[in-house]
Parts: sequence; structure tokens; C-alpha cells
Amino acid sequence: MARVKIDNVFKRYGALQVMHGVNVDIEDGEFVVLVGPSGCGKSTLLRMLAGLEQISDGTISIGERVVNDVPPKERDISMVFQSYALYPHKTVAENIGFPLKMAKRPKSEIQEKVNHAASILDLAHLLDRYPKQLSGGQRQRVAMGRAIVRNPQVFLFDEPLSNLDAKLRVSMRVEIKELHQRLGTTIVYVTHDQIEAMTMADKIVVMRDGRVEQIGAPLDLFDRPESVFVGGFIGSPSMNFLHGTVSSQEGRQVFRTDGGLALPMPQAGLADGHQVTYGIRPEHIAIGDEGVPVNIVVTEPTGSETQIFARVDNDLINAVVRDRIYARPGEQVGFVIDPANVHLFDRQTERRL
Ligand SMILES: Nc1ncnc2c1ncn2[C@@H]1O[C@H](COP(=O)(O)OP(=O)(O)OP(=O)(O)O)[C@@H](O)[C@H]1O
Ligand SMILES: [Mg+2]
Repeated sequence: MARVKIDNVFKRYGALQVMHGVNVDIEDGEFVVLVGPSGCGKSTLLRMLAGLEQISDGTISIGERVVNDVPPKERDISMVFQSYALYPHKTVAENIGFPLKMAKRPKSEIQEKVNHAASILDLAHLLDRYPKQLSGGQRQRVAMGRAIVRNPQVFLFDEPLSNLDAKLRVSMRVEIKELHQRLGTTIVYVTHDQIEAMTMADKIVVMRDGRVEQIGAPLDLFDRPESVFVGGFIGSPSMNFLHGTVSSQEGRQVFRTDGGLALPMPQAGLADGHQVTYGIRPEHIAIGDEGVPVNIVVTEPTGSETQIFARVDNDLINAVVRDRIYARPGEQVGFVIDPANVHLFDRQTERRL
């Protein structure tokens, strides 16, 4: 187990700069998830931690040691990739034990560690099988077994579940989290999937274009996104955004959309006329006669809930409610919004107000 410190790290490929001063502190034993859109630099950062990629500037420390010039083998980390190539002609036991064999560990030790990893990962009954005789999830567990036997200070995972079907992902998600609770090893985990990020992480790092956009506990990011970008990225379905200005009405401030519709907002002491972006999550909109009148475009019943899309100005606003709503397209309903659930961002800077 170890702390990991990423300090003002830059990465250039020739003239192309892809990482612009990234700072992340990872506590000993912490489960940190890196998220962000494709190309934002998640894999590059992970590969720099692993030592598979040189850093152009800054420092990376693992434990108390600066590892900038330490080769991958000596960093005491294990990495599991999206394509977890297993050796097809080796059994499960041989695949798991391979790193130890390479390190020329004695046979008895290899056997003991393989058995231990197999019992943790529920692979004990599959040790004599070959990869082609396994399901996707079982193969994924073998790849993890291979990472575990080395008992590293840090695990690095790069989208390890993205090849699995939805149901298997959910069960593997639980297994990885349980594994972390059992081993207590520091984990840095990359995913596209923000549900995975929310459910697994102690701390989420949201990246954008080679920069850290925000770092925080999952629910902190959800409740208090510092920018429009994080508000839209964290949470599913996504936060709704509307553009407009602050204006006063009967002694209270309201948000007035560019099209003139007034919506409730928190009394944040902003100047009238301030141009803002208004964020409201779908699950924070209720339906009621007292609400703001909107016209329904589509309703989508999913069984457990109803998704409602209504037009406000030129935008489609999404509400998710637990009740079954039988409204037709074109019908008017009221959107009830508690100002406490509204997120206000400066329209120019897109930062939280
Ligand atoms: N060897 C390379 N040479 C030049 N540019 C590279 C190289 N490797 C990666 N990049 C660029 O660096 C940026 C970050 O890539 P990276 O693979 O880290 O993104 P990512 O966040 O992992 O994306 P994804 O979610 O698609 O896996 C991208 O713009 C990519 O094109
Ligand atoms: Mg990647």
C-alpha cells in the first residue's frame, strides 16, 4: 500500500501537448477513479504512473519515492488493461502464477499465492481450465488474479470492464469493490462509465482536455459541481441546462430564460441582468399544477419510472418521475422545481456561482 502523488505533470508528444499540469493526491488505500471524455488523457496518466510513458515535466511519487526515472518493473504496481490478454495455452493457474514464475519464485510459493488469489476471486474450481473454456467475467477475474499475486503497492485499472455485457459489469463492479475492501490496496481506476465511477470511488478525478476539472467524493461532485462540464458529466440522466438572465419579480429573483419563461432559483445575491446557465437534474423536477407550465414533447415509461421531455424555449428539458404519467405530446403540465436543487453557473466562464 502506498500514497501516490502526481505533481504538476505535463506530457508532450513532440510539439503536441496533451497534459497541462495535472495535480492529484491519492491517499494510502484509496480507491480513485479517473473519468472524462475520450481523449482527455486518462490512459496517458495511468501509463505514466505505471512507467510505460515518460513524463515531460513534473513529478510522480509512489510511497515516499519519486519514480520519474524508475522503470515499470521496479515501481511495485500491477496494471490490468481493457484487453487483458491471457496466455491461451496456459491454464488458469499458470496464467495467474506467471508473474511469479518470471520473478523466479519457488514453486511452493507460487502455488500458495495462486491458490490464495483463486480463493479471493472464486476461481479455485477453474484452475485447470484454459482461457477459451471461461466466460468473459471469469477471464477478467484471471487477469485480476495475475495482478493480485504480485501483492503490489498500487493497482492500476484501465477500463477493465468495458468488454463485458451490462449484467456482468455490475457484478464485476461489486467484486472489484469487495476486493479493494479486502486487500486495502491503493487503486487508480479509469472508466468512461460514470455509474461505475460513482459507485466504486472514494474519490473521483474528472478530467478534460489534459487537465483536472474537479476532484471530490462522488456525492460532492454530484451535489456541488464546480462547472457546467462536471454538472453535465456526473449524473445519469444528465443535468438539464438553460440559458438566461437573473431578474427580479415581486421582490424575489427568478431565472428568466432567453425565451422569457420564469423559473425559480436560489436567492444567491446576484445582480439583475447577470447572464447565467441554469442547471437542474431530471430527478429534481416534479410534476404538479402549481409548477411552471411546459408542453410535453414525449413521455417514455420504463416501468419503474417515467421520463418526460418538454420544450422550454428551444431546449428539451428532461424530467424523471417515479409515478406513471399518462400525458400526451402537446399537453401542458407543470414543472415543480425546488430552488435548493438549482445549480447556477456563470454563462461566460461556466463556473459555479
Ligand atoms: N503516442 C501518442 N502520440 C501522440 N498523441 C498521443 C499518443 N498517445 C495518446 N495521444 C493523445 O493524447 C491524448 C490523450 O489520450 P489518452 O489515450 O490518454 O485518452 P483517454 O482519456 O484514455 O481516452 P479514451 O477514453 O478514448 O481511452 C489524446 O488526444 C491522444 O490522441
Ligand atoms: Mg484510454
